[in-house]
Amino acid sequence: MLKKSKQIFFTIMAVLIGGFIAIQFIPYGRNHTNPPVTGEPEWSSPEVRELAERACYDCHSNETIWPWYSHVYPISAMVQHDVEKGREVLNYSEWDNTEREQATTERMIETISKNVMPLPYYLLIHPVAELSEVEQGRLINGLIESIGDDDGSLEAVDIEGDEEEDSGN
Ligand code: HEC
Repeated sequence: MLKKSKQIFFTIMAVLIGGFIAIQFIPYGRNHTNPPVTGEPEWSSPEVRELAERACYDCHSNETIWPWYSHVYPISAMVQHDVEKGREVLNYSEWDNTEREQATTERMIETISKNVMPLPYYLLIHPVAELSEVEQGRLINGLIESIGDDDGSLEAVDIEGDEEEDSGN
C-alpha cells in the first residue's frame, strides 16, 4: 500500500518536472533584446533619472534588466509581453524619435499617483522598484520639469514629508 502511493507520488513528480522542462522550449518569451538607446529626455537631475530607471526603465526603455527568472517560462512570457507593450506606449530610450507617439506626461503622472505604474505584479517580484510617496512626488515633479507638457498646465505636487524628515513629532 505504502509502496504504491510512493510510486504514484514519484510518477506525478516526474510528470510535473518533465512538463516544466518541456514548456521551457516554448519560444515566446526568449527573445530578450535591448535595442540601442538613441536619445533620452533631458532629465532635470540625476536623481530624477535614477527614480525613473528604478521604477520604469525595465519596461519603458531599451535598457531592460533581464534577471534569471525572466528566462523561466511562464514568467518569461509575461515579462516579454509587458516589455513589448510598455516600449510601444512609452520608451524613454527613443526620446529623439519625434515620428513616434509617446504617452503624455499627464498620463505618466496619473499612472504613478494611482499606483497603476509600475505594474503591481512586477513590484511583487521586483520590490526595489516600489517608490515611497515622497519618491513618487519627486518623480512626478521631475517629469514635469524634464518633459513637461504642451501648454504648461501641469502643476508640481507638494511633497509631504520632504521637510518633515528631521522635525520629529
Ligand atoms: C513591469 C513593466 C512596467 C513597468 C515597470 C512600468 N510600466 Fe508603464 N506600462 C507597462 C505596460 C505593459 C503598459 C501598457 C498597458 C496597456 O496597454 O494596457 C504600460 C503603460 C504605461 C503608460 C500608458 C498608460 C495609458 O493608459 O496611457 C504610462 C503613462 C506608463 N506605463 C508609465 C509608467 C511609468 C511612469 C512607470 C514608472 C513609474 C512605469 N510605467 C513602469 C508596463 C510597465
